[in-house]
Amino acid sequence: MIFVTGGGGFIGANFVLDWIAETSEPVVNLDKLTYAGNLENLAALDGDARHIFVRGDICDRSTVDRLLQTHRPRAMVHFAAESHVDRSIHGPGEFMRTNVEGTFTLLEAARAYWSGLTGAERDGFRFLHVSTDEVYGSLGPSDPPFAETNPYEPNSPYSASKAASDHLVRAWHHTYGLPVLTTNCSNNYGPYQFPEKLIPLVIANALAGKPLPIYGDGMNVRDWLYVADHCAAIRAVLARGRCGETYNIGGWNEMPNLTIVRTICALLDELQPGANGPYEQLITYVTDRPGHDRRYAIDARKIESELGWRPAETFETGIRKTVRWYLDHQDWVTHVQSGAYRDWVNKNYGGRE
Ligand code: NAD
Ligand code: TYD
Repeated sequence: MIFVTGGGGFIGANFVLDWIAETSEPVVNLDKLTYAGNLENLAALDGDARHIFVRGDICDRSTVDRLLQTHRPRAMVHFAAESHVDRSIHGPGEFMRTNVEGTFTLLEAARAYWSGLTGAERDGFRFLHVSTDEVYGSLGPSDPPFAETNPYEPNSPYSASKAASDHLVRAWHHTYGLPVLTTNCSNNYGPYQFPEKLIPLVIANALAGKPLPIYGDGMNVRDWLYVADHCAAIRAVLARGRCGETYNIGGWNEMPNLTIVRTICALLDELQPGANGPYEQLITYVTDRPGHDRRYAIDARKIESELGWRPAETFETGIRKTVRWYLDHQDWVTHVQSGAYRDWVNKNYGGRE
């Protein structure tokens, strides 16, 4: 079996669902269920013995040790994190705790467990750390996309905490020989993404007739990847990646935020027209995010040439599936938009012009 952290969140839940569907190999899933974690994401696995869910904190060494000893996993796939840049600006402390101290705790637990393995079990063990392209900083308009060799230049508390965790993972390989793999992925979108991130936020706000907030001039560029493609890439890295290596994962799909928002509006106009005319009318420019990175783009040639992975979805196919999913799962959105979520909306958007 494999040990997953953060499997109640957006990418982790997609990964667990895909993993069990594709491989049938059992998963023990450790998740604290913060505001971003939601067991409803995993409802399709209710009663399925291949999924063992444990509510707990990755910073709690005794829980991690107990799960490793009880379930004897052949690999760990580490998704758990605080993941939202805007939240990291308002409150960086939790990012340092979960992303840095939590990764440190997992590495130490993994090292102790792996040291006790022998033979094929020891040789086959892997610790896969899921990270972000944001560790590389911000690109100018004509810079080449991020390669694995780019220097780290994180600019937000979020990306700094992820960069720190990547460095820990690297050091645990170089110093202790722990068989690690690191993936640095671009912006994901798809089912079960919490509606604080751009794409699900815009879909939810448009359907509710609320403003669609665009930070700054809307020309910041991200490289968007459909989440199922990310899950397939992680499976490829886990199966065939070389220990100690990092793999950049991207969608070959750079787009400015304004184009993303307009595309969503056009799809909603087609699939669920609003009573008050085109959704684009809701676009509202608001004060920019402090330190807002201008452009991210991934050079995903290494994972393609070494492991044969390329994204299957184009943005056109992926965004259509995503908008359709949110239209079909409006109950899910209503459930996650709890009181705590409303507090966040006031905090993040209340102070902007
Ligand atoms: P998410 O915020 O949707 O989910 C994070 C999950 O981690 C939640 O289920 C939460 O409950 C859990 N968690 C948080 N703190 C925890 C703790 N202390 N102990 C145990 N569980 C805890 O995040 P996501 O978008 O699914 O991202 C998953 C990973 O992928 C993160 O490491 C993130 O940095 C990375 N990543 C995300 C993106 C993206 O576009 N979303 C892109 C690149 C990399
Ligand atoms: P986000 O989904 O928060 O991802 P990240 O900051 O990790 O790239 O934001 C994606 C882009 O959309 C980013 O440039 C910020 C911008 N954005 C807005 O313009 N308005 C919003 O309300 C949000 C949440 C993001």
